[in-house]
Amino acid sequence: MFRSDLFAGKRFLITGGGTGLGRIMLERFVELGADCVICGRRGGVLEATAKEVMAKHPGRRVDAFPVDIRVATAVEEMIEQIWATGPLDGLVNNAAGNFISQTKDLSPRAFDAIANIVLHGTFYMTNACGKRWIAEKRKASVISILTTWVWTGSPFVVPSAMSKAGVAVMTQSLAVEWGRYGIRLNAIAPGPFPTEGAWARLNPMKDDDGDRYRARNPMGRVGKPGELANMAAFLMSDEVEYINGEVIAIDGGMGIMGNGTFSNMMAYGEDDWRRIREQIQSTNATDKAKRT
Ligand code: HXC
Repeated sequence: MFRSDLFAGKRFLITGGGTGLGRIMLERFVELGADCVICGRRGGVLEATAKEVMAKHPGRRVDAFPVDIRVATAVEEMIEQIWATGPLDGLVNNAAGNFISQTKDLSPRAFDAIANIVLHGTFYMTNACGKRWIAEKRKASVISILTTWVWTGSPFVVPSAMSKAGVAVMTQSLAVEWGRYGIRLNAIAPGPFPTEGAWARLNPMKDDDGDRYRARNPMGRVGKPGELANMAAFLMSDEVEYINGEVIAIDGGMGIMGNGTFSNMMAYGEDDWRRIREQIQSTNATDKAKRT
């Protein structure tokens, strides 16, 4: 799907790049010729991922930086250290935190635990990179990983939905403010892509993903990792420089499914549809008879 040297000479930073969706995007970027930096809270996990990915792609470099993106000073220090070894060309705001809970049971600290990562951490990262790109007159691309809840909201994940909606607005605001510097910002809103960390918190009852999504997703399945990696590579590429300020869903259409008045009819079979047709035709015929 992509030229194998698409990202030759580029260097991207992926927050939370040691595991899950972050690692999936990391592997695709490196496969397409990029050098990458990954950061996250667990140094050991990051180092192991960096080593494995470099072993698979000789000649490519993956640097690992342990950091807690909730701490603005730590973010600034890390970005300073990264820049000392060379500038970045792109940032993926992938690190997140989330768990399912009734909102009435959330303490202020529970809200902060999510908002500090998703809303505050994402801003710290984006601005630390952005101001350097602007000062150096360097073009760059930012991708933030959101969810379709930024449009619809979602019960039981209110701190995440609120924080990600904030990042969606950051994406639009900075797309306009920084477009003139050649910095573009876009976001991806993935539907269900089962990864270990997210599913431990979002599917704690370990319900079968096939059962959960067969009826509730127009495509009848969860996402495949490669599909998300392709979207991220596409948006990161200079070839689509004119895409700026967009939030693009990759969810099989699940986010808009519940919005259709008749979406419940997805479960109907041919017999149901025949009965519906007969019922409507019979109503029409009665009306017509009354008119004549
Ligand atoms: C209610 C909870 C809770 C729960 C924690 N708290 N879990 N409250 N229900 N299930 C409360 C605690 O009681 C505490 O409040 C406060 O939250 C902080 O808890 P800590 O454990 O001290 O927080 P911390 O160590 O900072 O951990 C942050 C975390 C953790 C978010 C809770 O899970 C984490 O680090 N997660 C990172 C990885 C992650 O979440 N990945 C999933 C991303 S999925 P009190 O008042 O008691 O002190 C995603 C979207 C997926 O983002 C979309 C799919 C469609």
